[in-house]
Amino acid sequence: MEASKFFSRMEEFEPDEGYQKTYRSFDEVLPSLPPSKGWWLDQLFHYQGFWLSTFALRGSMLLNDHFKPRPTDIIVATSPKCGTTWLRALVFSIVNRHSFDFSDHPLSKMNPQELVFFLEGAIYIDGSTSFIDGLPSPRLLSTHLPYSLVPKSMTDDTSDCRFVYICRDPKDVFISKWHFANKLRAKDLPPIALEEAFDSFCKGASHYGPFWDHVLGYWKASLESPKKVLFLKYEDVKKQPSDCVRKVAEFLEVPFSPEEESKEIVEEIVKLCSFENMSNQEVNKNATRNSGRPISNSDFFRKGEVGDWVNHLSPQMAEALDQITEQKLQGTGFNFR
Ligand code: A3P
Repeated sequence: MEASKFFSRMEEFEPDEGYQKTYRSFDEVLPSLPPSKGWWLDQLFHYQGFWLSTFALRGSMLLNDHFKPRPTDIIVATSPKCGTTWLRALVFSIVNRHSFDFSDHPLSKMNPQELVFFLEGAIYIDGSTSFIDGLPSPRLLSTHLPYSLVPKSMTDDTSDCRFVYICRDPKDVFISKWHFANKLRAKDLPPIALEEAFDSFCKGASHYGPFWDHVLGYWKASLESPKKVLFLKYEDVKKQPSDCVRKVAEFLEVPFSPEEESKEIVEEIVKLCSFENMSNQEVNKNATRNSGRPISNSDFFRKGEVGDWVNHLSPQMAEALDQITEQKLQGTGFNFR
């Protein structure tokens, strides 16, 4: 299996020796990694403690070898299905609040992933960091990579990049992921059974899993470097969205002025980014899958609720997941309550 086959625009891009070296490393490392069945088409590979698709693995390798961080970079980091779309929208509208009118906002015309660029995705399309390198500062980027796989040039003390991370109750994450996987599975494959997906999730074998290790990586980083990593919970943002918007703005050093408060800009942002508003935008109702893109915008909006797991998991399954969570989080100072 040659890496070049995975780089969709390789014919246009003339990789230099540095890139060739990364592609060779990818080709060398892949066959040595333990595989596991993916939830939709592809396989997952166990790499440095996490289950990654080939897409994420080569993204991680390219990032590590070629990405040049800037001190102004802002990274929305999540484990999939924890609220990436929502957080992208919130961060974009907080950072760019002086540039756009709320009555004619880019978020009414574009999905948040067109405004906050997915690092691994952009690199996949180009086979290089050229697209990301060309973005103006401050760059709003996002990643699903675990903190330990993010390049050291972004996470160490010499870097001023900031990460805003959101996590979510694993029971809701699992249900959201299971629905998502079944939407993405090829039409000729039967749906993945809840029990099969549950077993894999509990064992950690889901995209960017184990879920708990992903959360703990960013949790620990937020304790060690509170100026670098802001750690949020989906449930808290749901309960007190305005407080969370203020928190993110302060963390990014763009706090709301008294004048903005009196104009209720925070509330405008909350309304703009709400599930109700975003899921009803034409651009997000679009269920068309382009040839190069297996996922449509509408796939990122399902219910947007806390506790939907109760409609899908048996009490035994819920208890089993809670037990794993308790075990994994023991002694870390973190819990999902
Ligand atoms: P559900 O499947 O539980 O409804 P991600 O963006 O990380 O892929 O996560 C998708 C989950 O976030 C889905 O959860 C989706 O409905 C929910 N979501 C998307 N936009 C949201 C918003 N603006 N507010 C709250 N939840 C949102």
